[in-house]
Amino acid sequence: MRVLITGGAGFIGANLVHYLLRERPEWDVVNVDALTYAGNLENLAGVEDNPRYTFVHADIADKERMRAVFAEHRPDAILHLAAESHVDRSILDSTPFIRTNVTGTQVLLDEARRLGERVRFIHVSTDEVYGALGPEGKFREQTPLAPNSPYSASKAASDFLVRAAQRTFGVDAVITRCSNNYGPFQFPEKLIPLMIANAREDRPLPVYGDGLQVRDWLYVEDHCAALLAVLERGKAGEVYNIGGDNEWPNIEVVRLILDHLDKPESLIRHVEDRPGHDRRYAIDASKIERELGWKPSHRFEHALPETIDWYLAHENWVASVRSGRYREYYERQYGRRVREQ
Ligand code: NAD
Ligand code: DAU
Repeated sequence: MRVLITGGAGFIGANLVHYLLRERPEWDVVNVDALTYAGNLENLAGVEDNPRYTFVHADIADKERMRAVFAEHRPDAILHLAAESHVDRSILDSTPFIRTNVTGTQVLLDEARRLGERVRFIHVSTDEVYGALGPEGKFREQTPLAPNSPYSASKAASDFLVRAAQRTFGVDAVITRCSNNYGPFQFPEKLIPLMIANAREDRPLPVYGDGLQVRDWLYVEDHCAALLAVLERGKAGEVYNIGGDNEWPNIEVVRLILDHLDKPESLIRHVEDRPGHDRRYAIDASKIERELGWKPSHRFEHALPETIDWYLAHENWVASVRSGRYREYYERQYGRRVREQ
């Protein structure tokens, strides 16, 4: 079995590379990543020497390049994670979101189709495509898509392209929609690692608006386990929601972090709200639990403190990302400069 992961140098992708190499010792893993600002090969330090692992530096929106990559590696399955993933960046400039999330996904679908029906295509999407919830209810797979940010709109567009490829051309495709992940290797522009890094340095913690927006947090390794279950047992043409049944207002998450670090709440600064900020996300994950036998195995009260401790113990990783030094890893390891794709 040869699995091609896109975006394997990012947060979830890197955790997934580690997870698959460990959990499926007979599988080969090919990681295709463009190494944008969010791609960090330090997340995969130690994996390079594994004979079952190959890194390919390439842009998924580059059709010719993807054709060559698919012809060379002939994957049995694709786990498609590569994306522009940060909502705030999509508000500043949606251009790379359209290129990678929309065009890139279509390029991969076309190449999967060329290889034939035997190629399984797992499209890693997000609960954000459903839009925002009020105080009650949860997103189900049947909830109509109503994305509110350029990021979630580009992910929704990619979901429709995957659906179309499955319905029109019989591509063996499955879509997953997961809630907010936390854990090691998350880029410190996202809420949890940003708050840990700032609190540690006694810098202000920017909380958008009233901080009462609610997110459903899932430990990243539980997401990886769900993706493996979908790859092995999911049905073509289906959508599977993945969530932690673990809702928290942002301000409470920030307080938990401060408390664990023994830092004062006076570091919290309420700043201007994110435009179009989704008030609440909550996932109904009963379908994947019932049909594929998956459920989260990490509890927030243990996994959040462990995550905070991971960032404390990996001070060099955080410093390297924050200073931009991580961009040099590729050059050191592979002897070439990272060029913008
Ligand atoms: P990330 O931003 O940490 O990593 C994205 C990776 O994709 C990086 O390694 C980057 O270099 C790579 N990439 C970007 N553009 C590329 C291109 N054109 N070609 C090849 N590689 C490219 O993202 P993440 O948080 O790990 O999210 C991974 C996937 O999971 C995304 O599709 C995202 O929408 C989805 N998702 C994320 C979360 C979350 O909480 N982080 C939750 C649900 C779903
Ligand atoms: O729900 C899944 C999504 O979760 C993924 O699809 C996205 O790729 C991922 O980035 C994440 O999106 P969010 O916008 O929910 O994550 P973020 O970490 O940016 O923000 C979490 C919440 O915290 C959100 O309500 C905004 C708020 N926030 C965020 C930052 C960075 C703050 O209050 N202050 C901040 O500085």
